[in-house]
Amino acid sequence: MPDLEPTAAPTAEQALATDAAPRSGETRYFLRFTAGQRFLHATLFTTFLGLAATGMCMRFSYSVWARAAARAVGGFGAILFFHKLCAVILTLAFLIHVKDIFTRGVMNRERGIFWGPDSMVANWKDVKDLLGHFRWFLGQGPRPQFERYAYWEKFDYWAVFWGMVVIGSSGYAMWFAPFFAHFLPGWALNAVLIIHSEEGLLAILFIFAIHFVNTHLRPHSFPMDMVIFTGVESEEEFLHRHPMEFERMRKEGKLEALLAHAPDSWQINFSRVVGFTAIAIGLTLLVLTLTAYFG
Ligand code: HEM
Repeated sequence: MPDLEPTAAPTAEQALATDAAPRSGETRYFLRFTAGQRFLHATLFTTFLGLAATGMCMRFSYSVWARAAARAVGGFGAILFFHKLCAVILTLAFLIHVKDIFTRGVMNRERGIFWGPDSMVANWKDVKDLLGHFRWFLGQGPRPQFERYAYWEKFDYWAVFWGMVVIGSSGYAMWFAPFFAHFLPGWALNAVLIIHSEEGLLAILFIFAIHFVNTHLRPHSFPMDMVIFTGVESEEEFLHRHPMEFERMRKEGKLEALLAHAPDSWQINFSRVVGFTAIAIGLTLLVLTLTAYFG
């Protein structure tokens, strides 16, 4: 392929007008998430919904809906069983993810996984983007141009990562309390229940209020962002959401390798059903939790 690079970096819009432009009106699609990443996310959100539902039933066990749910599955013992089942599956998914990072970053010394433009680690640009976004909201500046992960996507990621460590370790400390009692004083085991319960509540509020709004209910994604389900996004979406990544991949000649098929209609329908079901369950849980908490 001839090198058509101008000396100064072209803007994303200029890129659209050159080699990356859709030809003859055809929409091009690019891969954003691999099948493995989508599978881990699906495992994460299904088990999280299960943990949130069963956890809230235990926490608000006096409420009408918690008692009805317990009756439906055979009592609060069964609720705890499903909670632990989801916890084990989620822990496995988390460990697979951590192992993947360790292999890529430490064993294979993959450049940039911790500090590169693809990285989930926050950097100075994220701070500038956050401030720039506020300025843009107020009509005082241009819209910031994002790399592969915008600052709020990194925030969502670390909120879940950190939450997994805190909720997971406190959950296992309760589950295997006699074992942990060898290392922890009695008061710490009591504190663990409070930490687990409050962090669980925080996770529910964060995921079902902030993450859902950030990801799915934004003007450009409303009513649902399908990319985590189908794995692909259109060129227009790519350019709007992550123009700096688009531009970098174009300059490095890696854009073509990301080209993917448009999602099939069954994939879109399947994603819609799964996605809307998850959002509906999440919002219902949010309402039940808030009414039980303040009721
Ligand atoms: C690895 C992950 C997890 C493990 C191992 C775990 C384990 C447990 C265990 C063993 C209990 C029962 C405590 C008891 O006997 O009273 C419990 C309760 C609970 N869990 Fe989890 N859990 C995990 C994740 C979560 C998540 C992600 C949430 C919320 C989204 C959550 C929310 C709750 C709540 C609200 C309770 C009830 C606490 C209370 O009675 O106040 N858990 N968990």
